Amino acid sequence: MSQHIDHHELRSTLGRFTTGVTIVTTPVGDSVHAMTLNAFLSVSLDPPLIAVCINKNAKMHGLIAASGVYGVSVLPHEAAHVSQHFAGRPVDGFEPRFTWVGSVPLLEGAIAHLGTTVIDAHEVGDHTIYTGEIRYFNHTDDKPLIFFGGRYRSLGMENVPA
Ligand SMILES: Cc1cc2nc3c(=O)[nH]c(=O)nc-3n(C[C@H](O)[C@H](O)[C@H](O)COP(=O)(O)O)c2cc1C
Repeated sequence: MSQHIDHHELRSTLGRFTTGVTIVTTPVGDSVHAMTLNAFLSVSLDPPLIAVCINKNAKMHGLIAASGVYGVSVLPHEAAHVSQHFAGRPVDGFEPRFTWVGSVPLLEGAIAHLGTTVIDAHEVGDHTIYTGEIRYFNHTDDKPLIFFGGRYRSLGMENVPA
């Protein structure tokens, strides 16, 4: 089986999978580099591992390799502008604030934080999967920002019977 790859159709197909939106952060000296990312995965509980999948063309790609650490901050539902800001579309007047946990910066105002040390970098196609061992985590119970069909959405919290 080998279908012709129409990139627009492929993006639309992959976009049927609903995700949250995160901001990945890594230190650059005393400063912070931050990037919007939804290719985030919970990998293992024991040991506690997560993974992020980063395009080799992103500045973040080399910066995580250099620092050996990264943070993941999960965005709340009112933070679509924050996602845009860290996806290369700077929002005038938005001034992000970061909290440091050891050497790992995390974005303030997130609904969940994870601070990690990189334990594996696996090159696949035009991306690298950076697996991180979780050293720090916390969360709130606020509503997440949702990404579906290439658009930002908010979550209706109704339960669905199984
Ligand atoms: C909702 C959303 C999700 C994204 N997810 C990813 C992702 O999972 N991996 C990735 O490499 N880029 C992703 N991007 C694109 C990067 O955020 C964008 O290329 C960014 O400008 C790269 O930043 P940098 O080059 O300054 O590190 C996403 C963008 C948006 C808007």
